[in-house]
Order: sequence, then structure tokens, then C-alpha cells
Amino acid sequence: MGRVEGRTAIVTGGARGMGAAHARKLASEGARVVVADVLAEEGKALAHELGDAVVFAELDVRDPEQWAATVETARTHGGEVSILVNNAGILRRTPLADTTVEDWNLVLDINLTGAFLGIQAVAPSMRAAGGGAIINVSSMGGLMAIHPSWAYTASKWALRGLTKVAALDLGSDGIRVNSIHPGFISSPMLDGADEDSLSAGLPLPRVGSPEEVADLVLFLAAEATYSTASEFSIDGGILAGIKAEG
Ligand SMILES: NC(=O)c1ccc[n+]([C@@H]2O[C@H](COP(=O)([O-])OP(=O)(O)OC[C@H]3O[C@@H](n4cnc5c(N)ncnc54)[C@H](O)[C@@H]3O)[C@@H](O)[C@H]2O)c1
Repeated sequence: MGRVEGRTAIVTGGARGMGAAHARKLASEGARVVVADVLAEEGKALAHELGDAVVFAELDVRDPEQWAATVETARTHGGEVSILVNNAGILRRTPLADTTVEDWNLVLDINLTGAFLGIQAVAPSMRAAGGGAIINVSSMGGLMAIHPSWAYTASKWALRGLTKVAALDLGSDGIRVNSIHPGFISSPMLDGADEDSLSAGLPLPRVGSPEEVADLVLFLAAEATYSTASEFSIDGGILAGIKAEG
């Protein structure tokens, strides 16, 4: 029996990168999964590859109507939703003077408001399921700053606050809400970056894999029954501090 056998999950930004790993892992442990993303081609291909347990739903996380449709797709596909992985996100790296208000709002809308809309859309179904787990994918940039990602850092810190208020509100319904804080993880978001130099000073001197993060997501969805409003780092130890050479 799988660790999330018979449960229904929505993974936003599930078409590629870490989201695809979460969808794959949850499906392999018995969940019915909705891969929800703006990337229709990649999302459909992944759902096709993973078979009957997985369907694709076109979702822009900024749109409440598309959220309502995605929850309906999930209920039809597997029954009431008991796992939500708010994984969709974008990164912008721009100096202060070049950070336009349009770019600022875009990052906040997707990384923060998108997660709020997801929680709002899914909560009634989770209550009907008798409880569930919401995993908000923040970042190490939600525990410290990533320079020069102004809006990204602000959005990922705010996601921690969203996690806390959601945990307070939904705990008595049996819904646990936690945030995870990945460090450098090999995915399209890191494309073009030199992974060796990124990870050189870390206690674990390598980038992480999406599958390692998916293991944490699965643990929070399937077990972790007394954890809510908590922050789970998965970053090779980047928060340990600065290592002095010599
Ligand atoms: N890769 C890293 O090093 C790293 C580190 C810390 C946190 N994260 C976070 O992990 C999450 C996944 O990122 P990734 O590294 O897999 O990158 P990625 O770019 O491969 O994945 C992001 C996914 O989100 C989707 N997405 C973007 N805008 C969307 C929208 N409006 N509606 C629905 N889906 C949308 C994209 O289409 C894509 O599938 C993000 O929230 C990111 O901020 C990544």
C-alpha cells in the first residue's frame, strides 16, 4: 500500500522541474494527481507518461475561476482533495533601479497570491475529505535574502506568513499547512547557472535534486501528523553560516 494511497493531490507548476518530481512521487505512492500548470504541452506529456493516476489541468494560479475548475477536475478524477502542493513560482533577478512595478507585481501575484487562491479554492474540499496537507514551496530565499531578487525574496518570506495564518485557521479542520525551503535545486529555474560554483561553500557541496525535495513533500503529505505552521529547510546546509578557509 502506498503512503498516500487513495488520496487526491493538486500540484501547481507540476509540468516540469520540482513540481513534476512531486507529481511523480505522489502518484508512485498511490495518489490520484492533478498536474496544474500554464505549460499545457509539458503537463499533458507528463500526465500521459504517468498513466491513469495523473491528469493535467490548465491553471494560471493567479486566476480564481481556473482554480475552481482545477478543484472540480481533481474531485472528478479522484474524489475530495487532501493534498495541495503550492509549487508554481517564478524568479526575477534585477537590480533595484530596473525592478519595475509590473515585474514586482507579477512575482508577487504568482508566488504569493497564487498560493493564497489555491488554499481558498481547496479548503472546502479538504474539509469534506476530513483533513489534508498543504505544502507551500517557499525557498531559502524565504529565510534569508537572495540578491538581487527583490520581489522573489519578498514573496517567499510572505509565503511563510501565509503558511502561519492558514495553519491557524485550518488546523481545527485537520488541515496541516507547512512551508518548505529548498536551496539550490537542479531544475529549469537554475538553467544557465554554474552548479559547482553555486554549491561550493555548502556543508553538502552539491546542488540538490528535485527527487530529494519530492521525498520531503511526500513526508509532509503522508506523515508529519503533528507538524503544522512549520518551516522545513532542504538546502545542503546553506544556513549554517560562512566557512572560513585556512
Ligand atoms: N530551483 C531552485 O533552486 C529553487 C530553490 C528554491 C525554491 N524554488 C521554488 O520551487 C518551485 C519550483 O521551481 P522549479 O525550480 O521547479 O522551477 P521551474 O521553473 O522548472 O518550475 C516552475 C513551474 O511553475 C509554473 N508556473 C509559472 N507561473 C505559473 C502560473 N502563473 N500558474 C501556474 N504555473 C506557473 C511553470 O510553468 C513551471 O512549470 C518554485 O516556487 C521556486 O520558486 C526553486
